[in-house]
Amino acid sequence: MLRKYGVLTGLAILLSACQPSPSFLVSTSPISSHEADLYKEVLIEAALIFVFVTGALIWILIRYRSRGDKALPPQIHGKTSWIIIPVFLIVALDGMDFVWMVQTMKAVAAPQQAVSDLNIRVVGHRWWWEFDYLDQKIATANELHIPVGTTVQVALESVDVIHSFWVPQISGKTDVIPGQHNTMWLEGNEVGEFLGQCAEFCGTEHALMRFKVIVESQEDFDAWVADQQKPAYQPQTEDEKAGYEEVTGACAACHSLDPSEMDTDKVGPNLTHLFSRGTFAGGSFELTEENLRMWLEDTQAMKPGNDMDIKVLPKVRDQIIAYLLNLK
Ligand code: CUA
Repeated sequence: MLRKYGVLTGLAILLSACQPSPSFLVSTSPISSHEADLYKEVLIEAALIFVFVTGALIWILIRYRSRGDKALPPQIHGKTSWIIIPVFLIVALDGMDFVWMVQTMKAVAAPQQAVSDLNIRVVGHRWWWEFDYLDQKIATANELHIPVGTTVQVALESVDVIHSFWVPQISGKTDVIPGQHNTMWLEGNEVGEFLGQCAEFCGTEHALMRFKVIVESQEDFDAWVADQQKPAYQPQTEDEKAGYEEVTGACAACHSLDPSEMDTDKVGPNLTHLFSRGTFAGGSFELTEENLRMWLEDTQAMKPGNDMDIKVLPKVRDQIIAYLLNLK
């Protein structure tokens, strides 16, 4: 059994590795486009220097190669021009880099807070991301919805170790450090889904600490918010009722069914609208009934080392799933 899941996990990682990895060079935001510009400028500069230096070296090697004469060529030292020219070149090139860098830093610096901003708290957990919408009073996980063209002010917190929040096509990386309040900002210029990844090694499942940023129209975002604010589904059938008892009983130590509960001490994500999300377990697996069943059969086989180490009877598992499937 364990081996089967091991192979499945391996296959999932392999398949995801085959997808084109998101690059900041394909930017869809003001931040990553400024970063990409700086990268290209420095790359071109470095390439020109490489071509010039290598070319000069090859030319000198050929032009002044030994032609059999034994005597040493004239020795040059102490010539001021040979000191001034390199110093001037280094100062000029470094000065240019410095100006580019300062310009980029200024361009990506957080804009002044405005009332129209979206305020989000990102909490790093081993190994998943909590997203709290402070003004909308919604807590969700692993999928960050933002309206296109809106400035998003992000507060970063960790409940355990150091993580790093990174959406290559949208923003740079910022460390998420326990006990320290870091901030960053985001803005998506294009509607779409953009992959994010924890960029600081944080333990066994660091690689499976992924997330998605879903940039959508203001209209779609508002509709999503309205849905997320709704209370959890009330159980109807006998199975759903039994499942609900479990979810609000034993499971409640780690998971919440209150859409507005932002208790970072809870070890697991808010489940109120679980099935409105496409992935689970740190954005690592597609959220389907089959995968959820596999997860509840043996969470440790699917994502070894995670904090959810539970055993439930098959009957109870079916009841929990019967209820969870309705959490849209
Ligand atoms: Cu969290 Cu790596």
